[in-house]
Amino acid sequence: MKFFVDTASLDQIKEANELGILDGVTTNPSLMAKEGITGQDNIYAHYQKICEIVDGDVSAEVISTDFEGIIKEGEALSKLAPNIVVKVPMIKDGVKALSYFRDNGIRTNCTLVFSAGQAILAAKAGATYLSPFIGRIDDISWDGIALIEQIAEIYAIQGYETEILAASIRNAKHIVDAARAGADVFTCPLDAAMGLLKHPLTDIGLEKFLADHKKGNG
Ligand code: E4P
Repeated sequence: MKFFVDTASLDQIKEANELGILDGVTTNPSLMAKEGITGQDNIYAHYQKICEIVDGDVSAEVISTDFEGIIKEGEALSKLAPNIVVKVPMIKDGVKALSYFRDNGIRTNCTLVFSAGQAILAAKAGATYLSPFIGRIDDISWDGIALIEQIAEIYAIQGYETEILAASIRNAKHIVDAARAGADVFTCPLDAAMGLLKHPLTDIGLEKFLADHKKGNG
């Protein structure tokens, strides 16, 4: 299972990359705005900085919602660096754009996915990645992990090659459950991923080992 860090913060991306477990980055317009990155030139320059840090795939989201606009933006974004993946919303013109990008060798991440039906459409349109939003589904008292299970089952039966990128991940349990459910990738902020580290017996055990070492060695 691949780990993408879900942020536009260069510091967080560097920190995740230095751990040696980072496979890529996802961003979205909200994450860019959070870092104060505004204006197309600055946003594009920021993507280039991210791509200089990370070898793996970097998702860059289009703002347009009409076919021509999505194509124009996606082509410009894909020229910024070889590891850019164009992030396209799950709307009718987005599906058409996914097919266009597939036919023109541009890799894509279909975002804002909340149902198995949408997952089928994106796979048929040749999306490279599919981003079901686990946390946001849980927020409305539905079951985000059950959706991953459904999609993984359908993709296996149908032989779809689109990779399932579990997004909107909020905690370590989401990551473990998404892995069991068949997600190919998870994306989340670094602190959510570091939740995987935590176990009280590790802390108690380490404290005891260090205390025993100190007794013997001063
Ligand atoms: C990533 O591709 C998504 O945009 C992101 O995971 C959404 O996360 P959120 O629901 O925490 O905003």
